[in-house]
Amino acid sequence: MYIYFKNKIALVTDGAQGMGLDTAKAFANHGATVIIADYNEKQAQLAATEINNLGGKAIAIPCDVSKESDVKNTIDQIINQFGRLDAAFNNAGVQSPATNIADLTTEEYDRTLNINLKGVWLCMKYEI
Ligand SMILES: NC(=O)c1ccc[n+]([C@@H]2O[C@H](COP(=O)([O-])OP(=O)(O)OC[C@H]3O[C@@H](n4cnc5c(N)ncnc54)[C@H](O)[C@@H]3O)[C@@H](O)[C@H]2O)c1
Repeated sequence: MYIYFKNKIALVTDGAQGMGLDTAKAFANHGATVIIADYNEKQAQLAATEINNLGGKAIAIPCDVSKESDVKNTIDQIINQFGRLDAAFNNAGVQSPATNIADLTTEEYDRTLNINLKGVWLCMKYEI
């Protein structure tokens, strides 16, 4: 399937590297302006610069998807700058180190669920 994103505004969480960056580049290749939201601010800026240097359009916004204020701020910035959001890839996710259930700390459990589950919900809440 070929989808054309000319003049569309697309958000990619976790877009600074890995599958998120590859998806951001794909959006840009198909004409979208891409917002790279990642909690690694420096890496997100490097990713946006790389896309811009390749002839695409991208900006970076620092965002920890597990923090409601960060997610709200990201969407507010997008709406203020571009007036709308057309597509989103809520890709941010982490994996806990493999361990026995009894050895997993509550902090690590909360961190993983707050990014992988609450983070996706927060993004959808403010995107929608
Ligand atoms: N790579 C795989 O084989 C694979 C397999 C299945 C699922 N996934 C899922 O796909 C997604 C991307 O995986 P990947 O391997 O490309 O990731 P990656 O490890 O290459 O990149 C992770 C990125 O997530 C960012 N990040 C981490 N916590 C964040 C947070 N709270 N808020 C915003 N950004 C945050 C990091 O800064 C980094 O840029 C993840 O959700 C992962 O769980 C990956």
